[in-house]
Amino acid sequence: MMWVPNITFLLLTLSISCYGDNPGAKIQVTERGLQKGVEYLLNKMMANNTVYPLPDVSGSENIASEDMGYEFTQIRIIKFYRGTVASQWVPGTGMQVSMQNGNATITCNWKLDSWLIKDSGSSVLTLTGLAISMVLEIDRIDPGVPSMAVVDCQASVQNVDVQMLGGVSYIMDSIKQPVQDVVKKTVSQQLCSSIRNQVDKWDQSVSHLKLNSSLNRFIEADFSLVNKPEILGRYANIGLKGLFRLHNESHSETTFSPEPMTLPDQDGAMIYIGASQSSFDSLAAAYYSAGFLTFQVSQMAGSKEFTTSELSAYMPEISQHFPDPVPVKIQMHATRAPLAFILVNNMTVQFGGLLETIAHPAKAEAENIFGVNIVVSVQANFILSEANGARGLNLTGSIELVRLQIEGSQQTIKVQKGVVTENGVQRLFREVVVPVVNENLASGVLIPSTFLKNASVRMEQGFAILAAELK
Ligand SMILES: *[C@@H]1O[C@H](CO)[C@@H](O)[C@H](O)[C@H]1NC(C)=O
Ligand SMILES: *[C@@H]1O[C@H](CO)[C@@H](O)[C@H](O)[C@H]1NC(C)=O
Ligand SMILES: *[C@@H]1O[C@H](CO)[C@@H](O)[C@H](O)[C@H]1NC(C)=O
Ligand SMILES: *[C@@H]1O[C@H](CO)[C@@H](O)[C@H](O)[C@H]1NC(C)=O
Ligand SMILES: *[C@@H]1O[C@H](CO)[C@@H](O)[C@H](O)[C@H]1NC(C)=O
Ligand SMILES: *[C@@H]1O[C@H](CO)[C@@H](O)[C@H](O)[C@H]1NC(C)=O
Ligand SMILES: *[C@@H]1O[C@H](CO)[C@@H](O)[C@H](O)[C@H]1NC(C)=O
Repeated sequence: MMWVPNITFLLLTLSISCYGDNPGAKIQVTERGLQKGVEYLLNKMMANNTVYPLPDVSGSENIASEDMGYEFTQIRIIKFYRGTVASQWVPGTGMQVSMQNGNATITCNWKLDSWLIKDSGSSVLTLTGLAISMVLEIDRIDPGVPSMAVVDCQASVQNVDVQMLGGVSYIMDSIKQPVQDVVKKTVSQQLCSSIRNQVDKWDQSVSHLKLNSSLNRFIEADFSLVNKPEILGRYANIGLKGLFRLHNESHSETTFSPEPMTLPDQDGAMIYIGASQSSFDSLAAAYYSAGFLTFQVSQMAGSKEFTTSELSAYMPEISQHFPDPVPVKIQMHATRAPLAFILVNNMTVQFGGLLETIAHPAKAEAENIFGVNIVVSVQANFILSEANGARGLNLTGSIELVRLQIEGSQQTIKVQKGVVTENGVQRLFREVVVPVVNENLASGVLIPSTFLKNASVRMEQGFAILAAELK
């Protein structure tokens, strides 16, 4: 009975992937966001529709008690006004998009064939009162990419005006009405089938979305879909993995279990992006493992010349070892991955690392004054604004010292034990390190973003939320 363990395994895997994997990041798209997204897609679709070829149409119809064969070929939509567009989320399914009062101009070649008439020419069709309503289902397919499909499509045309160029006009007049009826019927079908084709193409292109992307040479981000998008009445929630790791790390090495995250029920912005504490931690851990968390504080922008005489303001005995002021470099490197703690309106980051001060006498070798392992908590504040020249978002920030403790024994090299006090290191950190870090954070980091604007960020219990408009 091989299938018994197989089914158990399948159920187990399914239940793990359905309930065990909380998303590390979540995107909430409100109805305004949906509307903007639909407009973007329609503009993209219409831009190409000017030369969008439709399949040939042929058939036969009983016209004036005659069986008349007809054929329309080379059908091209040359103008398309979509009229008013409305879209809404369809709970549990996806979205509904409808267009009212659109119109279109179509050119084609025609051929009529009956016992009485055999004729051909070209024609211009003007369609008015176009209405289309479709329901798109949104789902997730393995390995975590979105998929979409048309589950319902209705199209209708209120009026068709056929201008036949060529052909014998009195025959045309007598068959105009039936021909218009035929066109009305077939155009309705054609519109839905061309929409289905277009959506199939989108589905193909979204299934190739690169949801695993490189942040830099060492770090990659996994933004694959964790579960089926949750479509509610006023918004849709998309749960993403939100995991960062080194390229050379295998999937199984990383432990990642974000807490459940519920984005507040809100719809002032078009889009909300929630990033969990676990996501921040995995980003920090990846930076730490890649060896990026080493700072030469005294070489950062805004750092002032710092000498042993200034250092002795914090540890007075140091001046005894350096009667003449000697330039000092301060450096820090993480000894473990930093951790984020996110509370309402409050994000603190805990950094465990080695703080070193190194004297650089002009004519002698550099000399370690002291090194201490510290655990420091800083409160981090962030502000997002439009970057100059609208190239994306400008992330600026500042930190404040919350707590600093010396950990383990001091690596006191030049000065004696006990000279370096926790209080002295705290003041050194607050008065020398923090201002330099803040000066650097204030100059801003450019986040290239082609589709977000009016972004703001705030902290909730366990996660940060970015609210933004779509461009
Ligand atoms: C529209 O056409 C351009 C080039 O003509 C093509 O790159 C693009 O993929 C098309 N877009 C869609 C949605 O078919
Ligand atoms: C089609 O719609 C556009 C925009 O609403 C309008 O300007 C145009 O006159 C309409 N064309 C026809 C043939 O109704
Ligand atoms: C992303 O990478 C992980 C690990 O390599 C893999 O399991 C997952 O299927 C990938 N997701 C997508 C959408 O390619
Ligand atoms: C992965 O790359 C990092 C940074 O280059 C390196 O420190 C680490 O040892 C590598 N890990 C593995 C498992 O190869
Ligand atoms: C932020 O939280 C930390 C503890 O995580 C606390 O020490 C600090 O006072 C808080 N700051 C504010 C402004 O509430
Ligand atoms: C970001 O903001 C800072 C502070 O206002 C400013 O100095 C900097 O030029 C901005 N950077 C960009 C890319 O807009
Ligand atoms: C977006 O920001 C611009 C200026 O930066 C402002 O004029 C506009 O009202 C904002 N829009 C929304 C929806 O907040």
